[in-house]
Amino acid sequence: MKISVVGTGYVGLVTGTCFAETGVTVTCVDVDQEKISLLKACKSPIYEPGLDDMIQRNVSKNRLFFTTSLTESLLDADAVFIAVGTPPDEDGSADLSYVLEVAAGIGRQMDRYMVIVTKSTVPIGTAAKVEAAVRKELLARNIDIEFDVASNPEFLKEGSAIQDFLKPDRIVCGISSERAEKTLNRLYKPFVLNGHPIIFMDIASAEMTKYAANSMLATRISFMNDIANLCEIVGADVDKVRLGIGSDSRIGNKFLYPGAGYGGSCFPKDVKALIRTAAQNGYPLRVLKAVEEVNDDQKKRMFTKISTHFNHQLKGLRFAIWGLAFKPNTDDMREAPSLVLIQQLREAGAQVTAYDPVAMTETQRRIGDQIRYADDPYEALIDADALILMTEWPEFRVPRYRIMEKLLKNSVVFDGRNIFEPDEMAENGFSYYGIGRLPKKS
Ligand SMILES: NC(=O)c1ccc[n+]([C@@H]2O[C@H](COP(=O)([O-])OP(=O)(O)OC[C@H]3O[C@@H](n4cnc5c(N)ncnc54)[C@H](O)[C@@H]3O)[C@@H](O)[C@H]2O)c1
Repeated sequence: MKISVVGTGYVGLVTGTCFAETGVTVTCVDVDQEKISLLKACKSPIYEPGLDDMIQRNVSKNRLFFTTSLTESLLDADAVFIAVGTPPDEDGSADLSYVLEVAAGIGRQMDRYMVIVTKSTVPIGTAAKVEAAVRKELLARNIDIEFDVASNPEFLKEGSAIQDFLKPDRIVCGISSERAEKTLNRLYKPFVLNGHPIIFMDIASAEMTKYAANSMLATRISFMNDIANLCEIVGADVDKVRLGIGSDSRIGNKFLYPGAGYGGSCFPKDVKALIRTAAQNGYPLRVLKAVEEVNDDQKKRMFTKISTHFNHQLKGLRFAIWGLAFKPNTDDMREAPSLVLIQQLREAGAQVTAYDPVAMTETQRRIGDQIRYADDPYEALIDADALILMTEWPEFRVPRYRIMEKLLKNSVVFDGRNIFEPDEMAENGFSYYGIGRLPKKS
């Protein structure tokens, strides 16, 4: 089989590379010349564990190709996956211009039957728009080529994207023809040898499934953040509460971690887009509006804790931040809570030195030299008034207390991901602030 994947971001690149791994011939296409040049040299433009090796292997076996030409990628393709961005529009709805631009391009270039699959996260009704955009171009060319549209939302998580794609919990395919079902079934069969299902459904339900899944996960996080904040007031420890409720099989223990707010390229924009879709359809999604509101507040909560500890006198203070990425194992800084905190600290007159194992280049690309970047987590602590942990990278989990104590001006730790043990912190002479845990004074 031969497929084209349009967009070589986190989703497109992982999708294309993983399909190539099963023997499919894949051509990935992107408008970004720089990305394609890097990929042609077998270098991944994004940090994703295991991806570089997999790209190299499949390129060397002549199964994975990169190009900036959509025409070239569509040659003899059985299916084309659209995996371009769908950023939020000004009103919060998903901006479909990239998706529809690609759809029109396909209509201008296709010369045989193919299944046009939307992998980007798109609102209900987008497949119909994709179909119309393709048809319009075919009409302009005055030719009639059969094609099917399908919706195949992606559920991979950055940081474990390869494993998620190779061994998915489920694959969701929205289809409206047997022919499209057959093509997708053939492509995805190698990924469900573990018995997990390929769930075929109508297109609108597939489009809705993606938004509902991300919204449910975001809801769990905001719910736990709300409970954590209440725990602080009433004197409970949210970490115990998390264990207490997570062991209930009806609830489960995933996505129950309170923290400095959710970020990334998906949850914030998808929650916004679903709220918008609901509003456009005259049905206010009240729960989801609260989820967003709680998260916006949570992203500012670390600053409140820090400011309160220092009696609202942050001018001239220096803070060390460990972790910038919105979560570990990625260099993605989209909507990262660390960016909100950095802005607040700077506005209050404080200075920041940060360390992140992989996201410093991307941070510098976004905010330049507004902060200093350290080569090592402990270097960031030199003369800092406190340590603030914003991303739970594994390498931060067992800190070297004696060195920390020596380097920091004040032995104060703000733990935005609850990775440290409050008692251990106190025993080692640190004042400790977590999320939903009682502050511990040394
Ligand atoms: N990142 C994730 O974890 C994740 C997970 C599931 C779903 N999604 C969804 O998948 C979609 C893509 O997300 P992403 O994070 O991979 O985005 P991204 O921004 O990392 O990548 C998008 C790519 O598309 C390219 N592009 C834009 N217009 C193009 C065109 N006309 N032709 C060819 N290439 C074009 C861009 O240059 C970019 O490289 C979004 O809808 C997102 O919501 C993302």
